[in-house]
Amino acid sequence: MSNFSNKNGNLCLDGIDTCALALKYGTPLIISSERRIRCNARRLVGAISSFFTDFDIKYAMKANPNPRILSIIRSEGLGIDASSEYEIRLALEAGFRPEQILFTPNYASQKELYWASNIGVPINFDSVSQFRLVKERIPQSVSFRIKIEYGKGEFKGTTTSGHDAKFGIMENEAVPAYRAAKQAGTKSFGIHVMAGSNVLDPEHTAHVAASILEVVKKITDANDIEFSFIDLGGGLGVPYQPGIKELDLKATFKKVHDAFANAFDKGKMPSLSIEPGRYLVADSSVLLGTVTDVKIQDKAFIGSDVSMNTLIRPALYGAKHHIVLANRLNDEVSGKYEVVGQICENTDRIGTDIELPEPRIDDMMAVFDAGAYVASMASNYNGRPIPAEILISDVGEEVIRSPSTFSDYVRNYNFSGSEKTSINARKSS
Ligand SMILES: Cc1ncc(COP(=O)(O)O)c(C=O)c1O
Repeated sequence: MSNFSNKNGNLCLDGIDTCALALKYGTPLIISSERRIRCNARRLVGAISSFFTDFDIKYAMKANPNPRILSIIRSEGLGIDASSEYEIRLALEAGFRPEQILFTPNYASQKELYWASNIGVPINFDSVSQFRLVKERIPQSVSFRIKIEYGKGEFKGTTTSGHDAKFGIMENEAVPAYRAAKQAGTKSFGIHVMAGSNVLDPEHTAHVAASILEVVKKITDANDIEFSFIDLGGGLGVPYQPGIKELDLKATFKKVHDAFANAFDKGKMPSLSIEPGRYLVADSSVLLGTVTDVKIQDKAFIGSDVSMNTLIRPALYGAKHHIVLANRLNDEVSGKYEVVGQICENTDRIGTDIELPEPRIDDMMAVFDAGAYVASMASNYNGRPIPAEILISDVGEEVIRSPSTFSDYVRNYNFSGSEKTSINARKSS
């Protein structure tokens, strides 16, 4: 069930008119639904708990690290997957305890690894050399990210395992890696795999589970190690276009459970961990922009202040989002449009062949599924602002990230040597 509705032609989220919010706060604007995030979390917990008694869901905060969103995730009882010191610090500020966080960096510095180990955050090592960097102060719990031969994501750029992936250790390095960890005095072991992002096929997760369980068997046989958790990473997909079938969670976790039950004796099953990012937040949010120009040339271009600095996924991966005119939901489609932004790059395309009513300047454009990898990937490129974020919660609308200002943009620059020209001074000259 979608949280979106149509009220007199305007797009509403949880009954609140998104166009009115866009006019009030300005665009680009990300509007998110607390209800939807909670509903996604509960659906996932429900599906996994049908098959597993011992499991752990860690939100991949790279999807959207907004502290208000983290507080919702925390109150749903989920943990955190973090990829850097700053993400860990943000999670701690949002109330998570170190042991609720799993740190999965890649190519991290010794300083960063020591820092995490010292504050008691479990580390999921990307290589044996990274483990050796902290051998003097190894964390309580050690896991390695395994690069299984099978990798699959929606795009090449979101495929994170298989021979071309830069992440993790190869399958044939796993036995010596865990031997080294055991010899160094590690007491508690986990294992991790992340094959790719946004996959809608239950067979995929089952295949990932079966592949990592084969590696687990080799390690256990060779090193006499018991694993306390097996982490299948993130990757649970969401449909970015209407009409695409949702991921069948129950089928997914039944298949994963079958693979676990095959591999372990009753009562000896390690805990199942997963690290969803997109699944929890993507469809909770919509990105609003104001149409700033329409050019009918060989192609029909519609430009708005939603640009690649706000939504980089189409330029980065070729990702496609569903797009509508949020104030014209009742109007007939008039043609196909190339939806572009304001950045001086010809790759600044938000959508191609998008069916819309004949657009007008000042219409509101809405880009769906903007809750994951949108705000977190936004930049100030071309001097354009980072979008503000509004949360629709039980208390109404909350500003959870203020609109960015010129002061934010220039905060860290050193202006010494610049001659400041005030607008007033320029006017008088
Ligand atoms: C280690 C790790 N875990 C979890 C995730 C979350 O993936 P998704 O948003 O597809 O669930 C990622 C995403 O890249 C990741 O690298």
